[in-house]
Amino acid sequence: MAEKRVLITGGAGFIGSHIVEALNSAAWQAEALDNLSTGSPANLPSGIRVNVVDIRSRADVVRLFTENPWDAVVHCAAQTSVERSMKDPEMDREVNVTGTLYLLEAANRHLLRHPASVQRLRTAAAGRC
Ligand SMILES: NC(=O)c1ccc[n+]([C@@H]2O[C@H](COP(=O)([O-])OP(=O)(O)OC[C@H]3O[C@@H](n4cnc5c(N)ncnc54)[C@H](O)[C@@H]3O)[C@@H](O)[C@H]2O)c1
Repeated sequence: MAEKRVLITGGAGFIGSHIVEALNSAAWQAEALDNLSTGSPANLPSGIRVNVVDIRSRADVVRLFTENPWDAVVHCAAQTSVERSMKDPEMDREVNVTGTLYLLEAANRHLLRHPASVQRLRTAAAGRC
């Protein structure tokens, strides 16, 4: 049984699924958060839990963090299509800016309730995880 739980947002996508695979080990139990808009559970090793949540829903993000004692979060959920961002910049902002803000809020609240728990939130939004 792994000692710590790590949540990888966008875990069913390209970068996130590789991070899930790399982190899942005897020391870490890796889980994914993904709305499966472009990602797929088929990208993940078998047995990985996928929390199907859209980060644009503040209520769903808060509920997920309230129910789960994460030790760390790696943020890779993103709208990554340049074509789509040109056609619908508002949707791009909702996912990449507002969704990231909701994750930070939820992680921060969780940290206040479990000070020894969440240690850091890494984001890929700036181009690296
Ligand atoms: N692919 C690369 O070479 C590369 C390089 C550097 C940085 N990055 C960054 O890494 C991050 C991930 O990139 P990727 O290539 O894995 O993209 P990707 O599109 O394969 O993965 C993004 C994942 O986020 C999920 N997602 C999208 N909207 C969501 C929402 N509203 N709620 C929950 N999940 C949602 C998608 O279903 C998908 O699984 C991006 O921020 C990207 O800029 C990627």
